Amino acid sequence: KDAIRQELGSLHGIPLFKSFIEGWPQVKAFKARPDDLLISTYPKSCTTWLSEIMDMIYHDGNVEKCRRDAIYNRVPFLEMKVSKGLSGELPQWPLSLSPSGLVGRRHHSVPLKHILGSPQIVYMARNPKDVVISYYFFHQMAMIHPDPGTKAEFLENFMAGKVAYGSWYDHVREWWEKRQEKKILYLFYEDMKKDPRREVQKILQFLGKELAEGTVERILHHTSFQEMKKNPAANYETMLPTLMDHSLSLPLPPERWGISGDWKNHFTVAQNERFNQHYQEHMAGSDLHFQMEV
Ligand code: PPS
Repeated sequence: KDAIRQELGSLHGIPLFKSFIEGWPQVKAFKARPDDLLISTYPKSCTTWLSEIMDMIYHDGNVEKCRRDAIYNRVPFLEMKVSKGLSGELPQWPLSLSPSGLVGRRHHSVPLKHILGSPQIVYMARNPKDVVISYYFFHQMAMIHPDPGTKAEFLENFMAGKVAYGSWYDHVREWWEKRQEKKILYLFYEDMKKDPRREVQKILQFLGKELAEGTVERILHHTSFQEMKKNPAANYETMLPTLMDHSLSLPLPPERWGISGDWKNHFTVAQNERFNQHYQEHMAGSDLHFQMEV
């Protein structure tokens, strides 16, 4: 397992996997088409959920079409596609995923200035306490990540931005500040958990699409956590075992998955106080606010 763990290099000061850095010239050369949609999130902020919702929207709620391939192939990470696909395939370039010509693409955190060729961007942010816990467990499962160490060590590294994709603060703030200038829809995981119907309607409005009520209903059902969890095209179970330790999802308490506020089961009182102080300092001057639970 340790053999495939990658040390992080640095791309424009952002810690990133070395294989992604090697593929960077291709990402930079990427030219979006006018009808492309880019999904961006910091890791563990629901890229997968948003991708499934987008694919359903673009396929008018056709569940069968949205089972045509694994989510990481239907809506691929640009930075992975140019290094090595999650299913171990050779990279294909340019990407062309959907016969409708409406293509969803996602990307975690390449600095904004490099991807503004993409005209439509949906950004999803999640509160940092849940992100760090989700990211910690993910480091154990997804074998490309460096060894996360203890939870306490990982928390320190996360706060210092010394994890893959760098500082959560920089990521959420940069996109927040740019949202007025560009066609960016900025969403929050906590809102999506609280009222997915309202958030899907926001997405439809942003895309200028209208769907029948029954179609929206189908999208909500198909992308609910319970449905996605048992859908092999959405739950990562098809990912190569050399990349993902599937056995590790079992010992984790099942109620942890897909909830808001799980951090309370993991942070000590002292860690929480320290995190709150750090959060206040790093969010100072911003009108961006996070709900730490729903
Ligand atoms: S990744 O690996 O960075 O692409 O992960 P990402 O998809 O961005 O985020 C994973 C977290 O999203 C939760 N998730 C969901 N929550 C609610 N509803 C649905 N449908 C859903 N799908 C994924 C997933 O459980 C991860 O959060 P945690 O806290 O780890 O459970």
